[in-house]
Amino acid sequence: MEILVKTMAGLEEVLIQELEQIGIKNCKKLRRAVQAEASLEQIYKANLSLRTGLHVLVPLFSFKAKNEQALYDQIFAFDWTQEFRMRDTFAINATVKSKFFNHSKYVALKTKDAIADKFTETFGSRPNVDPKNADYNLSLFIQEDHVIVYKNSSGNSLNRRGYRLKAALAPLNECLAAGLLLLAEYKGERPFLDPMCGSGTLLAEAYLIASHTPPNLYRKKFGFQSWENYDKKLFESVKERLSASIQEPKHTIMGCDIRKESLEACFENLSHYNFKKFIQLKRRNFMEREAAIKDALVVFNPPYDLRVSNQNINSFYKEIGDALKQFYGGSEAWIISANFTALKHVGLRPSKKIPLFNGPLECKFQKYELYAGSKKAKYQD
Ligand SMILES: C[S@@+](CC[C@H](N)C(=O)[O-])C[C@H]1O[C@@H](n2cnc3c(N)ncnc32)[C@H](O)[C@@H]1O
Repeated sequence: MEILVKTMAGLEEVLIQELEQIGIKNCKKLRRAVQAEASLEQIYKANLSLRTGLHVLVPLFSFKAKNEQALYDQIFAFDWTQEFRMRDTFAINATVKSKFFNHSKYVALKTKDAIADKFTETFGSRPNVDPKNADYNLSLFIQEDHVIVYKNSSGNSLNRRGYRLKAALAPLNECLAAGLLLLAEYKGERPFLDPMCGSGTLLAEAYLIASHTPPNLYRKKFGFQSWENYDKKLFESVKERLSASIQEPKHTIMGCDIRKESLEACFENLSHYNFKKFIQLKRRNFMEREAAIKDALVVFNPPYDLRVSNQNINSFYKEIGDALKQFYGGSEAWIISANFTALKHVGLRPSKKIPLFNGPLECKFQKYELYAGSKKAKYQD
């Protein structure tokens, strides 16, 4: 089957690596998506185990339409009664880039009407819509007059792993957090520190990577479970095989934050899946005191601006650089920030700069190698 896996800008290459790891072939990089070919088994595996994928879509059909009536007619012409059952709820998501259609919500509404009318014509009644937690999910993409209808094998977005019960200040999207760790080549083979952990997204994703836990292994519902070709036995056996590879993390995973409220939210989120047993949390001002961790991978997203406090954001970033130099020699640090001016004040030369987006914010993800002692001494060693 052809599949289209949606992701976030800048994570396409990482997603390709993940897809190839589960044996999915012919991956083609697109903007915020990867196109590929997969079997039903690989679609189940992708949904359970992708860390940077948001939705796994399968194209149903495509057509040309230049107005709402043409859209309605072509959607109505398809036999939806063979696709899902009356007792299933359904939902439609539309993305529109077209001079012929202005409003994605209206496109979704027209599509819903056409599907409901098809059922009513056939059975005299229609299935219900559930925008939040539908059984059967459709995604519509319109580029000018070209309409592609996809069925969404994931259902709700795959970044909703289920562990986020509380959000503190500006939490990262779970897929972005996992993408940052994969870009930093984290595999759980060294200690990990997020010194400004907020609600703990990077910590949770680090734990999932280090323990080889597929991030959606415990999800209750996927879109493909309402498909007519759903193979429950195959799905259970894929889950079983993936569960068999879970192990305890081998190295410390540590989170620190200056705010009590952030740590409380973090503690609650990490209560999920027994995270707490493996992740250390500490209240620390990053600038003042080192966390007791050596030769670690340090990844964090500091505040991008400090409107609420009196401190200048540039001097805040300078202090970050000073603390990295003072306390974390021998470690490798990565910072993601949308504040490019402040980033320059870190005062360390980045050895890598990766452009990314955090939601609508254009960001840089920068790597700093922190040598223990002088760089010369390291090379002499
Ligand atoms: C953008 S949030 C991090 C969000 C987090 N990555 C998540 O996904 O929830 C920045 C965090 O930095 C913390 N912070 C700010 N200044 C700090 C400092 N000097 N030391 C430690 N943490 C600090 C804030 O309390 C806040 O939780």
